[in-house]
Amino acid sequence: MNILRALFQTTLGRKYLMAGSGLILFGFVVGHMVGNLQIFLGPAVLNRYAHFLQSLGELLWVVRLVLLAMVGLHIGAAILLTLENRRARPLAYEGGGAYGASLASRTMIYTGLIIAAFVVYHLLHFTVRAPVDLTPHDLATMKTTLDGKEVHDVYRMVVVGFQQPLVAAFYIVAVSLLSFHLGHGVAAMFQSLGLRNRAWNPAIQRFGQVASWALAIGYVSIPLAVWLGLVK
Ligand code: HEM
Repeated sequence: MNILRALFQTTLGRKYLMAGSGLILFGFVVGHMVGNLQIFLGPAVLNRYAHFLQSLGELLWVVRLVLLAMVGLHIGAAILLTLENRRARPLAYEGGGAYGASLASRTMIYTGLIIAAFVVYHLLHFTVRAPVDLTPHDLATMKTTLDGKEVHDVYRMVVVGFQQPLVAAFYIVAVSLLSFHLGHGVAAMFQSLGLRNRAWNPAIQRFGQVASWALAIGYVSIPLAVWLGLVK
């Protein structure tokens, strides 16, 4: 706890916290996308994967708690750094932004907070399975049989969820914002960790762009495919 307090007390420490927590959240987002893309391999494959995750029991709770702690650190450090930047420069730059700063970099706090709101909705939708998606179906009671066992029908839950055009559209907007956030975030992470120098900069920029586009395409493809009736 003392290390955490010490890290939070300096600007550099807060940047390390942002970058470290961001790296772990980025890893989760990549893994979650790869897992979700199994929807294109059919119900049995996706449901077997989801059942495997559910069966991790206590380990799943450890992962959830680590992720929650990372979200807390990431948002906490982001708010402190934003307030600090505002105090250092109370008047906005003429024309709205810092010279050379991209739109993505200037809007990180807003895109980040919208993504956090999306994650709350998403957890209510697919993890708590509360009735938040305009569908007449009860997502919590969707069951199927897998290898002779009754398991939760995650495939049907996702399909039914995204058959609501408004819900699918909301997901598409949210994951596009996530991609926009990461387009700057990935490069900023290398910078904060002191790994970005003149020689590595082009490769880091390219990596950030490729990763954010790949995430956008991967995540958007799921609600879009259901919406278009390609996955049903
Ligand atoms: C098209 C986009 C997405 C789909 C189809 C999707 C699908 C799912 C599903 C089916 C679950 C529940 C799994 C289960 O209970 O068996 C889940 C959980 C979750 N998703 Fe997503 N997801 C998407 C995007 C995202 C994004 C962009 C984030 C983060 C920014 C995210 C974060 C989470 C988290 C934190 C959980 C809870 C994991 C747990 O503790 O069980 N998801 N997602």
